[in-house]
Amino acid sequence: MATVRLAPSILSADLGRLAEEIARVEQGGADLIHVDVMDGQYVPNLTFGAGLIAAARRATQLPLDVHLMVEGPERYLEPFADAGAAIFTFHPDATRHVQRHLARARELGMRAGLALNPASPLEWVEPALDDLDLLLLMTVNPGFGGQRYIPASTAKIRRARQMLAQSGRDIWLEVDGGITPGTIAEAFHAGADTFVAGSAVLGTADPAASLRALRQRCAATV
Ligand code: DX5
Ligand code: ZN
Repeated sequence: MATVRLAPSILSADLGRLAEEIARVEQGGADLIHVDVMDGQYVPNLTFGAGLIAAARRATQLPLDVHLMVEGPERYLEPFADAGAAIFTFHPDATRHVQRHLARARELGMRAGLALNPASPLEWVEPALDDLDLLLLMTVNPGFGGQRYIPASTAKIRRARQMLAQSGRDIWLEVDGGITPGTIAEAFHAGADTFVAGSAVLGTADPAASLRALRQRCAATV
């Protein structure tokens, strides 16, 4: 069975009970905690910063998978590393010196990730493969939870998997947006190994059962 890492997004959590919400998914078998940082510029929505990352860090042993949907993400390299981020993923079209920022993230002890919007080509990350630990493919347009998986994403996941295999490096392939028990198998069989889910986990009444359902869909043959 190929790797399946589940990364529930706290965008769908009840933030007044953040520590409890994180504990529920940790006990329910989550592998990572996904933290969506939005600045109201790169995307229309506004969410969290270093203070919340530090609070999440105190609430769990799991690695914090921080996804920056912000302009100039390099401003947050040190603050987020200090706050306890394990993965630092940014959008290459939000900055200029992509390779430098990936290298710096790794120097600071984080895994370095790049995220591509649905219309952003894989070619944008190819020159950076030597410095990359994770490629995040957005399977919706970023900014909000609860959107529907864009079907054309599946072919892109397949092409990304080939590109990463050719690099010969262990680069995680993460998908984010509209991942539910109805869509996860398609992304998994196309080659994704790490799955963000917001509304399909912390947006449900029983997050542990929802995590189990997602994992089972990957195990089932299609
Ligand atoms: C969207 C965020 C996602 C979001 C996913 O811009 O990057 O991580 O939490 O939410 P769902 O799983 O509900 O599409
Ligand atoms: Zn995200």
